[in-house]
Amino acid sequence: MTESHLFDQVTGFYDTHPINEHQILEKLERDGVDLGALSEDQLQAYDQDHYGGLAANDRLAELAGITASSHVLDVCCGMGGPARYLAHNYGCRVTGNDLTQSRVDGAAKLTAMAGLDTLVTFRQGNALDLAFDDATFDVVISQESFCHIPDKDRLIAECVRVLKPGGRMAFTDIMTTDRTKPAALERLSREMAMAELSSADAYSRRFADNGCEVETFEDLSEEWHAILVERLAMYRSLEDQTVARFGQAHFDKWDGAYAFFVGLYETGEMGGGRILARRGG
Ligand SMILES: C[S@@+](CC[C@H](N)C(=O)[O-])C[C@H]1O[C@@H](n2cnc3c(N)ncnc32)[C@H](O)[C@@H]1O
Repeated sequence: MTESHLFDQVTGFYDTHPINEHQILEKLERDGVDLGALSEDQLQAYDQDHYGGLAANDRLAELAGITASSHVLDVCCGMGGPARYLAHNYGCRVTGNDLTQSRVDGAAKLTAMAGLDTLVTFRQGNALDLAFDDATFDVVISQESFCHIPDKDRLIAECVRVLKPGGRMAFTDIMTTDRTKPAALERLSREMAMAELSSADAYSRRFADNGCEVETFEDLSEEWHAILVERLAMYRSLEDQTVARFGQAHFDKWDGAYAFFVGLYETGEMGGGRILARRGG
């Protein structure tokens, strides 16, 4: 598959993802929220597209030492949930980058609705070619997104390039284990747009190659297994809404792919973790 085909696959995947701007706003309305006076505290129940919810944002903030004076880049920011959460709770400036235009548009709309658009801004673009000057950010974060990106050497080099010397990069990602089989990788690539998965050790080597030291690695595989079982149930609970928006065939395809993915955590064929790296300086 060519790189441009891979990126089309990712944007197609996220254009039709069950967590989207419309479904977030529908759920809030169903909760009786006045969308004309929307706050981050209300949005945050529905706009996070990673494992471990708000606590996972706080853990990244703690590891990276985010304060009100930090300028944070959220690489692959999705609907902007973590970006808004960090700005709202830590007072920092956050720039979100995402490949999928519908995600960037939805993120900008929700951010304006929550009155956070002075602190949080978004830019559509490929993480392999970040549209920012060298040494722009104090902190780079990302959650459960690098699995979609095909050239991890270039990705880590790009993230480190935009980080200030001494800056920190804290992220989580789906990672291979020593039990991962090629057939599983092939199916995840085909059905869930997971273009390339890395092991934790391979990430550490890439940081070392780019003048960074990995200070912390947390293995989240077991914790994520439990979360993924719940997520599958949550997506199934959204069946009516997903079918109404994208059709039954789409839902069935999604459900089969997701159930397969969750099963890989059951057998230990798939894992994940949190890495903190510091750029030398
Ligand atoms: C699972 S979502 C995570 C969203 C967000 N980090 C969160 O926690 O809510 C993955 C995101 O990665 C984005 N993405 C995938 N490949 C990308 C790339 N090459 N460059 C930038 N964004 C990308 C997708 O568009 C999607 O929004």
